[in-house]
Amino acid sequence: MAGFALGIVVGSLLGVAGAPAQAADNDTCLVCHRSPLESSKPGKTGPFYIDPEALARSVHGGLTCDTCHQGFTAGPHETGALQGVDESLRKVAGELQKKRGKGGVALASCVTCHYESFQDYSQSVHGVALFDKGVKDAPYCLDCHGPPHTLMPKESPASRDFYTNIPTTCASCHGNSEIILKYRLNTNVVPTYQESFHGKKLILGSSDVAVCSSCHGAHKVVDPQSPAFTEGLAMRCGQCHEGASPKFATAFAHIPATETSQKIVHWAERFFAVLTGGVILGLVTHIGLDLASQVRIRQRRKKGKK
Ligand code: HEC
Ligand code: HEC
Ligand code: HEC
Ligand code: HEC
Ligand code: HEC
Ligand code: HEC
Ligand code: HEC
Repeated sequence: MAGFALGIVVGSLLGVAGAPAQAADNDTCLVCHRSPLESSKPGKTGPFYIDPEALARSVHGGLTCDTCHQGFTAGPHETGALQGVDESLRKVAGELQKKRGKGGVALASCVTCHYESFQDYSQSVHGVALFDKGVKDAPYCLDCHGPPHTLMPKESPASRDFYTNIPTTCASCHGNSEIILKYRLNTNVVPTYQESFHGKKLILGSSDVAVCSSCHGAHKVVDPQSPAFTEGLAMRCGQCHEGASPKFATAFAHIPATETSQKIVHWAERFFAVLTGGVILGLVTHIGLDLASQVRIRQRRKKGKK
């Protein structure tokens, strides 16, 4: 199905991107949507509220509402308003029903401007899981990028895909026991990363270590058992470890360090544990001594006044 979705988009991409529906002024929509709204339909909960300033500050601040919300005209709206929505977008929106149980034109719209990201995603384990197998817990754009109206660029620390936030973003599922159990995923992935040299240095504030996407990619995440992954791994390590050989690339796997096959890793990690512990102990001692001396100075001052 991933191939199927792709085919349609290629076919009419120009049509979609070139002619976003009749660009209505955002105020046409914000008349109602700048305050919390209630739906007249039973079971439908809002608040359907958009913060115009937050939207303006986001990466999409320059877009009008109906670039993404094709088919929506001044409300109140009919559900799934599909009039005037491009045929290709409707089909992608239909595919996305697998994730949400209802059509998603706005969700599908990302494809029109970020086609490359979508193409890579469609070929990834996640895209195949969603489109081919109907795995609704597989991530789509917003699971990794955050709410649609406040998206920030990856250079912003507020972004879920800001470099050092990436492990947390992936861990929202790969460290979530419900999802791990449901799809029989590896339970060790997040803890072994956190215990690794990369994970430990990240906690200590380093921003040049490897995060999940350094080894797995962000959009085109492939099966780690496949040749596509193993054959390219040394090159990925090589981005930071000059001249990394295929042998060097085996220096990391998501295997708990206590297992004998990982002795070197185990000792390296012990070393880092002691180092981390030492740094923290040093800090605490420093703060403690500092406080004590301040208390002493204050007591002396008080005595002096009396
Ligand atoms: C007259 C007031 C009004 C105007 C103008 C208006 N809306 Fe709405 N809109 C609503 C209400 C009320 C809802 C609550 C959902 C419902 O009743 O189905 C809503 C819901 C929505 C939803 C959520 C629909 C869903 O099924 O979850 C979207 C998206 C939306 N509006 C987009 C727009 C866009 C884009 C515009 C401008 C082109 C716009 N609206 C203009 C009143 C309005
Ligand atoms: C970059 C594309 C984009 C732009 C621009 C955009 N939206 Fe959205 N909006 C989305 C996506 C994606 C969703 C989530 C849709 C879903 O889950 O089906 C959404 C959801 C909504 C909802 C439903 C929220 C809820 O509480 O369920 C409303 C209402 C809405 N948008 C109104 C607007 C209005 C009004 C504007 C313009 C001021 C606007 N949007 C601009 C992409 C966009
Ligand atoms: C009409 C075109 C258009 C649509 C539709 C659109 N975007 Fe964008 N997007 C842009 C532009 C333009 C930028 C800012 C320039 C850039 O960085 O590429 C941007 C930036 C972004 C960024 C930040 C990129 C960075 O540098 O970190 C993300 C993430 C993003 N968009 C995701 C989405 C998602 C998810 C959707 C669907 C809900 C979407 N976009 C819909 C045009 C669009
Ligand atoms: C599994 C998580 C994940 C999913 C799903 C995902 N992204 Fe991303 N995306 C990322 C990460 C992480 C980055 C930052 C990549 C980097 O810095 O190398 C990123 C970067 C981007 C960028 C900035 C340009 C770039 O490639 O660096 C855009 C635009 C973008 N994504 C759009 C999308 C769209 C559109 C979708 C849905 C079709 C999507 N993403 C799905 C994780 C994801
Ligand atoms: C919204 C939840 C979610 C997020 C976020 C997420 N994943 Fe996944 N991931 C899944 C699910 C569910 C599967 C299993 C898909 C299947 O059943 O085929 C999976 C599969 C994988 C696989 C293949 C596992 C295997 O055993 O074959 C890898 C590798 C992977 N994800 C890496 C990542 C990385 C790296 C990130 C962050 C950039 C990430 N994931 C973010 C839900 C998520
Ligand atoms: C230094 C490189 C590197 C980093 C960083 C890394 N991984 Fe991996 N990952 C690998 C390798 C190599 C494999 C294949 C061997 C294995 O399963 O341990 C793998 C396998 C996986 C698998 C499949 C496990 C299985 O049993 O099939 C998942 C899921 C995964 N990684 C997710 C993540 C997530 C999430 C993060 C971030 C928290 C991450 N990885 C960080 C290199 C890395
Ligand atoms: C994004 C950059 C980046 C990538 C990609 C990367 N690493 Fe690292 N790695 C680092 C940094 C930075 C350190 C800490 C170096 C230091 O403190 O001396 C480190 C440390 C290590 C160490 C600890 C010993 C040492 O040499 O300092 C090992 C082992 C290691 N990485 C293995 C790997 C393997 C295997 C891969 C590929 C599967 C990989 N790394 C990918 C950045 C990276």
